[in-house]
Order: sequence, then C-alpha cells, then structure tokens
Amino acid sequence: MKVIKVKNYEELSRTAATIIAGVILSKPDCILGLATGSSPVGTYDQLAAMYEEGILDFSHVKSVNLDEYVGLDGSNDQSYRYFMNTNLFDHVNIDKNKTYVPNGLEEDSDKACADYNEIIRSVGGIDIQLLGIGGNGHIGFNEPGEAFEKETHCVDLTESTIKANARFFESMDEVPKQAYTMGIKNIMAAKKILLVATGSAKADALYKSLYGPITPNVPASILQLHQDVTVVADEDALRLIKEKGLL
Ligand code: F6R
Repeated sequence: MKVIKVKNYEELSRTAATIIAGVILSKPDCILGLATGSSPVGTYDQLAAMYEEGILDFSHVKSVNLDEYVGLDGSNDQSYRYFMNTNLFDHVNIDKNKTYVPNGLEEDSDKACADYNEIIRSVGGIDIQLLGIGGNGHIGFNEPGEAFEKETHCVDLTESTIKANARFFESMDEVPKQAYTMGIKNIMAAKKILLVATGSAKADALYKSLYGPITPNVPASILQLHQDVTVVADEDALRLIKEKGLL
C-alpha cells in the first residue's frame, strides 16, 4: 500500500486526479470505478480542468459507480446519478450511455444487483476504483459487520443516515431507506484502488483501515490485502497514523 501525504484538499484533489489521468492516458478505453460524496468533488474538478486543457480525452472511457439510492430517479438532485452528471460527466466528453450507476428505480433488488454485477463483468472489470471512506471505515455502502465476500447488494440505510438525509426531501416518505452498493468483492477485484481521505473525522478510520486488524468491523481494512492501493490523505486524516509513528 502506498500512502501519499498532502497538505490540503487542493493538493489531494490534484494528486488523485493525476493518478486517474495516468490510467486514462495509458489506457484510453479504461473503466473508471467512481465514488460520490464530498471527498472526490475536487478530484472531478481537476479531471474536468484537464479535459478543458486538452490533456484528457474521455471519449472511450467507461465508468461504474459504487452505489445508488433505491427509489430515486437520476433526475432527482439527491441521486448519485445526478451527482455524477453535475460533478463530472457534464463537464467532460464521456459518453453518458457508457457511465453506469446501479438502477435505483429497479424494485426487484435481486435483479438490480445481478444486472449491475453483469455490467461490471461485461465492461471487463474496473481498472481503477476511486474510494472515499466513512468515519466508521465504510466503503461504498458496505457498513461495519457486513461480509467481505459480497458482490452488489441491497443495504438498509441506518436510522441516522435516513434522518440526516430527511432535510433534502419534502416528506419522510420520499427519503430513501435503502441503497444498492457494489460489495467488497467487486471493489477488491479492481486492478487499482485509489482512496482519498481528508479531515480529522477520518483519522480513526484511516488508522484502523491501514494498520489495524483486517476485520469486517472496519470494512476498508480489507484493502490491506489488495496488491495495488494508493491512499492520498491530508495531514488531518493522517494525524493518528503519524502520532503512532507509522508514517
Ligand atoms: C460514495 C460512497 C461513500 C463515501 C463515504 C465518504 O459513493 O460510497 O462510501 O465515499 O461515505 O463520504 P465523504 O467523502 O462525503 O466523506
């Protein structure tokens, strides 16, 4: 595992974007595994800037995203499809028909998940998977305690996530209660993994994931077993690791 320490969010975003750009340049028809959340927003900005400058061409790139809320249409501004369109896809020359997120409108969860696994397989697997990390060590919607060997599956959102999301919706009925997420097995099958972490709220999870025991209680700890992981993290996120003299 390679850990790159950066000073701030801008440097983190530039570093992560450069790594992804390297994959696109060496394999123009690569498959990007993408994430939502606040951590990768700056990375997407940087990738869009590289496209604007003529450094990157996304015309042959395909992408698969980690997760999507069940019940949300891609036009809903809380959906992860909407997030990806507005934060990246609308700003580069990627063919949106070749960008995939789980189908949140598919009510048959077995079908939604099997279809998504098939999409990942049919595009030939993921060349580089970008990940954020939750304060509890989750990756995608793989929360502590879930089996490592799962592929795409449906998860029940925790009460606290549902409550936190409630402010974005007009009524409680509209707030998603479930999500479809790639499983740890899909993530571990990616050729390369790039994890970005920023801020002190990630320090504990990052320490446990990188240096603690490998356990489903800290989902990201499984990454210790992957052969090609790069972590880009700022000083706050690396604080505990540094305090323990590990970096
Ligand atoms: C996003 C995802 C989540 C986030 C994680 C960190 O698709 O699956 O695992 O990566 O919750 O979120 P932020 O970056 O908002 O701290």
